[in-house]
Amino acid sequence: MTDLQSRPEIVVPAPLPPFTLTALERLFTVHRLWEGIEDAALARVRGMAASTLAGPVGEDLFARLPALEIIANFGVGYDNIDVAAAAVRGIVVTNTAGVLDEEVADLTIGLLLATLRRIPAAERFLRDGRWNEGPFPLSPSLRGRRVGILGLGGIGKAVARRLEGFAVPIAYHGRTRQEGLSYPWYASAEELAENSDVLIVIVPGGVATRHMVDARVLTALGPDGVLVNVSRGTVVDEVALVAALESGTILAAGLDVFDREPHVPEALLAAENVVLLPHIGSGSRLTREAMGQLMVDNLGAWFGARRVLTPVAETRHLIPA
Ligand code: NAP
Ligand code: 8YV
Repeated sequence: MTDLQSRPEIVVPAPLPPFTLTALERLFTVHRLWEGIEDAALARVRGMAASTLAGPVGEDLFARLPALEIIANFGVGYDNIDVAAAAVRGIVVTNTAGVLDEEVADLTIGLLLATLRRIPAAERFLRDGRWNEGPFPLSPSLRGRRVGILGLGGIGKAVARRLEGFAVPIAYHGRTRQEGLSYPWYASAEELAENSDVLIVIVPGGVATRHMVDARVLTALGPDGVLVNVSRGTVVDEVALVAALESGTILAAGLDVFDREPHVPEALLAAENVVLLPHIGSGSRLTREAMGQLMVDNLGAWFGARRVLTPVAETRHLIPA
């Protein structure tokens, strides 16, 4: 596959980390879509290295890529890709499941503690020289709180494992009750919120989960409740969240994701009872390198042996047995 003539041609729709582009270029002829690409080259493209945060990948692009066989996504979430349309065209889709769970879970715990104990505000207080005027106000606590995990998948379970060490009761909601788990399961997000003082959101994005956390769920979480969203901005009704934070319907929120990234609503930027992060759940050098390598390996396995390492469920049937 190192012979330049026989290298599969792939397209990269939007910039990826330089170390990932370099790894792709070792094995494939890489076309950067944002730099422009001729129709003749588009017709030869058999693979795509997509990125979760770089805009939708669907029919508009598929129509220009008649030979496309595989989309390897740089991200475990693939709500950026129209997988139904890909399946119809016989295009296999892969994600980066398994290599980022622990990193995102670490960040989730950090965000939870930062929100409850008001760590960013305390640091600003110190840097602003206000400690000389008196102590930082007392914060809420994690002690005695019940934690609800909305979406107990790979990352949700890694979060739960960490929370075991914090000695807090854990419950969850997903579409199905999972066998062999001792955590209570609730049949809806609203029921989970009613029985939680912290709601950690880590379901996939997309149509099925859009605004799953709405005004009703926030009301159920209650005036002492804390929301932590590390999934997708679309899962939380941002307008309802702003209203809930302003009115005291909930106590506070920690957010790593937003509805229209990188746009963050002014009301959230101005709010004192939120901690805001720029979608950094998996954003360590170590984990982004592992994600990039898995994406490269998925493409390599496909072109080498019609195999992939981490297929998404919706196109698994397209992989030869
Ligand atoms: P996963 O292993 O597929 O787990 C998803 C969980 O959500 C499953 O337990 C599933 O349970 C539940 N779920 C799915 N659809 C649901 C629905 N409609 N209603 C209720 N529950 C539903 O995924 P993961 O690897 O943990 O990742 C989850 C998401 O986190 C990704 O899709 C991505 O959007 C986000 N993420 C964010 C960052 C970041 O940087 N902030 C990093 C990585 C991932 P059931 O099947 O039983 O419903
Ligand atoms: C990354 C993510 O920010 O994996 C996901 O679903 O949201 C994050 O890991 C993203 O993949 C970078 O493109």
